[in-house]
Amino acid sequence: MLVAVAVHAEKFQGVADTPQMGWNSWNHFGCNIDEQIIRDMADAMVESGMKDAGYEYINIDDCWHGERDEQGFIQPHAEHFPSGMKALADYVHSRGLKLGIYSDAGATTCAGRPGSRGYEYQDALTYARWGIDYLKYDWCDTENLDPEGAYTTMRDALHAAGRPMLFSICEWGDNRPWEWAEDIGHSWRTTGDIYPCWNCELGHGSWSSWGVLPILDQQDGLRQHAGPGHWNDMDMLEVGNGMNAQEDIAHFSIWAMLTSPLIAGNDLRKMSRQTRDILTNEAVIAVNQDSLGIQAMKFIDEGDFEVWVKPLEEGDWAFMFLNRADSDIRYRYDWKAHRVEDDISDHALDFKRESFAWQGLWTEASGDTRSPSELEVPAHGVRLLRLTPM
Ligand code: GLA
Repeated sequence: MLVAVAVHAEKFQGVADTPQMGWNSWNHFGCNIDEQIIRDMADAMVESGMKDAGYEYINIDDCWHGERDEQGFIQPHAEHFPSGMKALADYVHSRGLKLGIYSDAGATTCAGRPGSRGYEYQDALTYARWGIDYLKYDWCDTENLDPEGAYTTMRDALHAAGRPMLFSICEWGDNRPWEWAEDIGHSWRTTGDIYPCWNCELGHGSWSSWGVLPILDQQDGLRQHAGPGHWNDMDMLEVGNGMNAQEDIAHFSIWAMLTSPLIAGNDLRKMSRQTRDILTNEAVIAVNQDSLGIQAMKFIDEGDFEVWVKPLEEGDWAFMFLNRADSDIRYRYDWKAHRVEDDISDHALDFKRESFAWQGLWTEASGDTRSPSELEVPAHGVRLLRLTPM
């Protein structure tokens, strides 16, 4: 007798209760990767203090691939990954970290390597056998594919393979994944690729990459879709990849406030002390990793000057004062003059009724909300404060 068994597939639970933190090869290395670089990054993540600060994943992006074998099993590039992916995963695990990999829903990846179209279950099984913990799944070469269907197929394949993996959807926000992907992936890119500049758009013909401010502006209207287990992904970090210190600090603060995954994209072996200090600022990371998982909201918009707020656990709040302009500004902020109401997370704040102590998260400054604060906000920079009830 044949019995039909309905297998209920779902995404893995509990792997992204807070936004994922790690490192990815693409922003700095592009296609120039090999197993030694990946091992070095695992070592550097431990030795730099990043692991202690919460970074967990070492993610290999595009171009690790070789060919498929006669049975269709994908192989890593024989010269660049001669020891194989299982050995690499074992090494990364031995450092107390996790290993991520990259594929694409189409027949080829964005760099023209073999994609997973038609091989989803076989590839998911292969990744599970290797000991992979994270899959970033891209969207090149997908003409005539239905995005929800394609990402569901890979989710189900991962589930069937049985090894918990974080599933990172990367279709650049083209098909509004925030409307359909909550039960499919743990994060979804909301925008095109990042580029290390403050306020630029870099055209590549049919697509563009974007600086920090254009990516921020494209998050408008998305915050209600993020929460524990399902995050809006503003793309990997460019801290240490060429912007100035204030821009790097602002970039990291914005990603922290908007509960984006924090995936470093610089060369961890060679980073300056300043870059390391930005990436490992534990008070800022705590804003990103707060257990409530509420994405910040823009509360005041005065053109070049914005105030963003984020409710935190135990009645705390984070306030980010953002100066988009090319010159420093001095801003007098009268706490009592602004009542905060967040209908989406159902949090409110009235400084006439309740007073808070505040602490600067990038500076030693501190104060309280009973009287106005004078804030110096550098050009292309932020002041980021954590408020605690008095
Ligand atoms: C796309 C993605 C990038 C990167 C490249 C790799 O552009 O958005 O993040 O993965 O592909 O080719």
